[in-house]
Amino acid sequence: MTDTDSLQSDLLARIAAADTPEALEAVRVAALGKAGAVTALLKTLGGLSPEERSVSGPRFNGLREAVSAALAARKAVLDAAALDAKLAAERQDMTLPVTPAPVGSIHPISQVMDELAEIFADLGFAVATGPEIEDDWHNFTALNIPEHHPARAMHDTFYVDGLDTEGRRRVLRTHTSPVQIRTMMAQQPPIRIIAPGRVYRSDSDATHTPMFHQIEGLVIDRTTTMAQLRWTLETFIKAFFEVDDVVLRFRPSYFPFTEPSVEVDVGYSSKTGRPAAPGEADKWLEVLGAGMVHPRVIAACGLDPQQWQGFAFGTGVDRLAMLKYGLTDLRAFFDGDLRWLKHHGFSAFDMPTISGGIGA
Ligand code: PHE
Repeated sequence: MTDTDSLQSDLLARIAAADTPEALEAVRVAALGKAGAVTALLKTLGGLSPEERSVSGPRFNGLREAVSAALAARKAVLDAAALDAKLAAERQDMTLPVTPAPVGSIHPISQVMDELAEIFADLGFAVATGPEIEDDWHNFTALNIPEHHPARAMHDTFYVDGLDTEGRRRVLRTHTSPVQIRTMMAQQPPIRIIAPGRVYRSDSDATHTPMFHQIEGLVIDRTTTMAQLRWTLETFIKAFFEVDDVVLRFRPSYFPFTEPSVEVDVGYSSKTGRPAAPGEADKWLEVLGAGMVHPRVIAACGLDPQQWQGFAFGTGVDRLAMLKYGLTDLRAFFDGDLRWLKHHGFSAFDMPTISGGIGA
């Protein structure tokens, strides 16, 4: 009796004296742990006679409960004290004036890509992406540009050393068209996507940089036509340049992956330098390549060209940004000059929306 009582008062005193979570844990282990004093007492119950057990059982269990309760109560006190200390240390004066955060700005390329995504989202297009380090099958072969075909030379290309895991040559993609292939192989038609991103060619002068940006469009369905291509491009050009009317010229052209292929010019006014309505346009500017997706491209992706057809287009994002925002030297886009960015950048809060206006 006295043993149990004195053990209890000893443990309760140690619990009350524990002033850190670690000290309290040490008392808990000494009392209730595997080799703890209370645990040892409880273990002796098995060896007692029924009479002894009916006396000692309730006493030992009472001891265990008293110690557990004291541990829990002390833990709550220590936790609350720790929280108070943390809150006191983190006290903040809400009446202090704020230091304004440094203001960044959105690069015109990002801005134009956001504008395009917004316009095409409104027409039901999803955004698709693909790797910038492509392989020559996706970048060329599947797009109906066979090995040794002279069209590969049209794109002065950066090859990357070594082969990929499928034994294909690795190449910095020369256009966003390989995303057409990746999309058609990954999902069943109907397909409506745009694919914005960086592309690479070994070109460099005032209007060419080795890295630039394109946006690809692809629609695949059972009855997609060239008339729908024309409507889509007109709708996009009007929304992008925020003009009510625009005149487009489709010139016959050649791309291995479209048939028929066209180059698309926008009529603009030499007076305003902006796209203009039919009567007012007196000059043409080439902005897009497009056409009906070649049946061989559809077949290369494992789809039946008898069932599926569609159109694709590709356009230079940098070119569109220069035109819309009157920027003249492409190289400045990639110099990372803060003065240029501050002057030509856009506010991060100026998100393009169809209702609020595309662009600034
Ligand atoms: N990929 C072509 C280029 O980079 C553009 C294009 C895309 C043409 C889709 C037709 C269809 O020049």
